[in-house]
Parts: sequence; structure tokens; C-alpha cells
Amino acid sequence: MTLKKQSILVAGGGSTFTPGIIMMLLDNLDTFPIRQIKFYDNDGDRQKQIADACEIILNERAPEIKFIATTDPETAFTDIDFVMAHIRVGKYAMREKDEKIPLKYGVIGQETCGPGGIAYGMRSIGGVLELIDYMEAYSPDAWMLNYSNPAAIVAEATRKLRPNSRIINICDMPVGIEYRMADILGLKSRKDFVVRYYGLNHFGWWTDIRDHEGNDLMPKLKEWVHEHGYVTPEELANTSEEDVEESWMHTFEKAKEVSWLDEDTLPNTYLKYYMYPQDEVAVANPDYTRANEVMDHREKQVFSECNQVVNYGSGAETTLKADDHASYIVDLARALAYNTRERMLLIVENNGSIVNFDPTAMVEIPCIITSNGPEPLVTGEIPRFQKGLMEQQVAVEKLVVEAWSEGSYQKLWQAITLSRTVPNARIAKQILDDLIEANKSYWPELS
Ligand code: NAD
Ligand code: G6P
Ligand code: MN
Repeated sequence: MTLKKQSILVAGGGSTFTPGIIMMLLDNLDTFPIRQIKFYDNDGDRQKQIADACEIILNERAPEIKFIATTDPETAFTDIDFVMAHIRVGKYAMREKDEKIPLKYGVIGQETCGPGGIAYGMRSIGGVLELIDYMEAYSPDAWMLNYSNPAAIVAEATRKLRPNSRIINICDMPVGIEYRMADILGLKSRKDFVVRYYGLNHFGWWTDIRDHEGNDLMPKLKEWVHEHGYVTPEELANTSEEDVEESWMHTFEKAKEVSWLDEDTLPNTYLKYYMYPQDEVAVANPDYTRANEVMDHREKQVFSECNQVVNYGSGAETTLKADDHASYIVDLARALAYNTRERMLLIVENNGSIVNFDPTAMVEIPCIITSNGPEPLVTGEIPRFQKGLMEQQVAVEKLVVEAWSEGSYQKLWQAITLSRTVPNARIAKQILDDLIEANKSYWPELS
């Protein structure tokens, strides 16, 4: 059977992740054929550096694919099957502020968790809704696969404010951890096992992991994680070829202490910010946060590689390579395009899957993906510990979306106060007032 060729738009063409996505799409053309790739960004200069390099690589490796990069929404969104969206409204300059402002008050400064994530959410909602509106205007049958962060808040905003839109919100963190689980278990691939998992984005737990014969792999994994977190045996022995930054290694180690809280499950790494906030503040450098690290490493490296491809006029020697994690995006697109019924974790409306939890919450759970969209699986009842934590966190996320659409200062103050990462309402207000000042040109006006 010949597969219908797809037309893809990468929104946030200037993202540091764009070259990795393109290399990954090139690696998968046999099962996900492409006729056209377009890039869209609202910063034409930033996008051009990435696009010029990708154009050269595409011409060399798949000249049949038509390529354009544009800042014009109509040109970008017309004749598209899939929008792969990864924008960062305010870019790294604003991420740096999201991280540094809370730290001034001794509170977690993080891209998606706590007040920093809330601030980023207040910027991101408008940007992602704009992309949805362009898609609906110019390619109403397309699907948007969105990984623009903070995914939890963006997902709630799209559920509430664009209820009929064809957007699916996704995260690579469970996939990234499952790569590590495969290493820990000595398996070749995360596809050698099937998982059950539930939670909110960056706030969830694995409850069951089995191989294809049905053997329970949780006991062996738990034993390892309780002692080493998600650090792999190769990393422990210093024989790993992966170059993982110090700050991420700390996160994978810290999962150990998070895992001790519940004997029945294995945790997402980001729970460390909510279970041990003071520890994370203590190891943070308020003058040099993750945004600085990314600007100095990933951003520099990606842009200088792209500039080099353009200078050589060839990508034959490039070190740009497919981002392994990103392969789940093509799994998702393929499932929607060709009805593969792949099983994946997605961020979807609960709608009864977790029976003792708000049906309108956006939860991260396993779904079967058909050409008609995701069919979420039933989770059942969840225990009191997780339920309590999730109810608090989902209230934070819903309050942020209400604050954004109503322009409510009070609700945003409540949201920050309710975050487990923030010690009291006074500090919440001080952080909020600083964030308002820093985000003047991005947030709706609050009163
Ligand atoms: P980046 O700053 O390098 O790239 C983002 C691009 O978006 C920039 O080129 C910027 O100009 C563009 N942009 C900003 N606002 C826009 C708008 N309104 N319209 C169009 N383009 C706009 O950022 P990055 O580090 O490469 O990350 C990109 C996004 O992907 C972030 O939101 C990041 O958090 C997210 N991400 C999510 C996951 C996940 O698990 N969901 C994984 C990786 C990255
Ligand atoms: C993980 C998360 C993403 C997040 C990324 C941050 O992959 O799932 O949601 O964007 O980490 O990584 P960075 O390297 O930008 O700090
Ligand atoms: Mn994520």
C-alpha cells in the first residue's frame, strides 16, 4: 500500500529543537512520507539561520520534499496536514526572568513548575491560541501536535477556550524516562514494554510496566530507582557515551528520594520540585539558572552548527542529528495519518478516565491513537496521596487560565499561593508583582 504523503508545518521554526525534528523526520520517511515541510516563526531572523541549514540538508537528502520558511501565517498554514508546534513566547530572555525572579524570594525558579511556569503560561496561552486560529482558518482538517510549554497550562487553556480545536498536547519527559528504564532493565527499547501511567503533565506516576509476555518489570525497576533514581547502570559506571548535563543528572538522581514516597508507583522527575522544593532552591544558582545553561550550550551549539552547514553549503559533515525523544512525535503523527492505533501517553481531558478526579482536568494518561484522534484508556481510582496533590496542582493550572481570560490579578495571586512550591501568600504576592513588571509586553492587563 502506498502511504499518502504528508505536508508538515513546524511552528517555532527558529526553535533549538527544529533541526532535531527535521533529522528525525528524514530518518522516518519510509513509514511517514512527506511531500512538503514549512517553517513558521514570528522572528524571521532567528528562523532563517535554522531554515537555511535545514533547506541545504533537505535538498541533499530528500530533494523531492518542497521546503519554505515564512513569517506569513497564511503562507505557512495553508495546505497543511500536521502542525508541529514548539514556540517559546518571550524566548530565553523571558525564561531567564521566570527562573530568577522566584529565586530572589527563595522559591523554585523553573521553566514549567511553580511561579516561573505560571508566568510562562500567561505568555504562552495567547501564542498557542493564535496558532490554533491560523490552523482553523487555513487548514481546518489539520492536527496540531503541540509541545509548546508549559504544556499543562496550555492544554487547559485550549480545552477551555478552543474546545473543538484539533490540538493534541504532548510531553517528552515520560518518553525520556522510559529510555532510562529500558537501560536499567537491560532492554533494547522502551517499546519492549507497555506502561500504565497517570497524572498531570510533569506531575505523574507509573503504576505498571510489563513486557510483551506480560511479565511484571516493576519490582526490578523499583529496586533500582529506590537506590539510584533514573541514573542508568552505564552512567553509574561512568561508561555512558551520552553527554548529559550536570543539572539533568541531579534531577535523575533526585528521583530516588521522590520514589520513596510511594511504594506502589514510580514518579516523574518533576515531582522533585513539589516534594523537595527547599532542596532544589538550595542547589540553584540565582545568578546562573537553566536558561543560562541552555543559552550557553544547546542554543549556541545548534545555531553554530546551522551556520556551519550554511558556510560549507553542505550538511554532509554536520553533527546535527535526530533527537531520539522526538521520535514519539512521528509515532503520533503516523498514528493519526494512517490509523496505526499506537498506544501513547497524551495530555487529554480526564472525562471519567480517573474516576475519582475532576472530569474537566487535563490529565496525562495512555491513549490509543486512531485517525479519528486519541481514545483515552480507563485509569480507575487513584490513591488519596496522588489525588490530593493533583487536585491542588490542577486548581493552580485552572486558576492561571481563568486569570488570563478574565484579566484577574486576584486569581493569579491565588494560583501562585496555591502552588506547593511557594511558602506563603505574602511571598506569592511579591513574586507576582515582580513578574507583572517583567511581563508587561506579554501578559494581558490584570486588575
Ligand atoms: P526556542 O526559544 O529556541 O524556540 C522557540 C521559537 O518560537 C523561537 O524561534 C521564537 O521566535 C518562536 N516564537 C515565540 N513566540 C512565537 C509566536 N507567538 N509565534 C511563532 N513563533 C514564536 O525554544 P526551545 O528551547 O527550542 O523550545 C521550544 C518549545 O518547546 C518551548 O516551549 C519548550 O518548553 C518546548 N519543549 C517542550 C517539550 C515537552 O515535553 N512538551 C520538550 C522540549 C521542548
Ligand atoms: C523535558 C521536558 C520539557 C522541557 C525540557 C526542558 O524534556 O519534558 O517539557 O521543555 O525538558 O529542557 P531544557 O533542556 O530546555 O531545560
Ligand atoms: Mn514536558
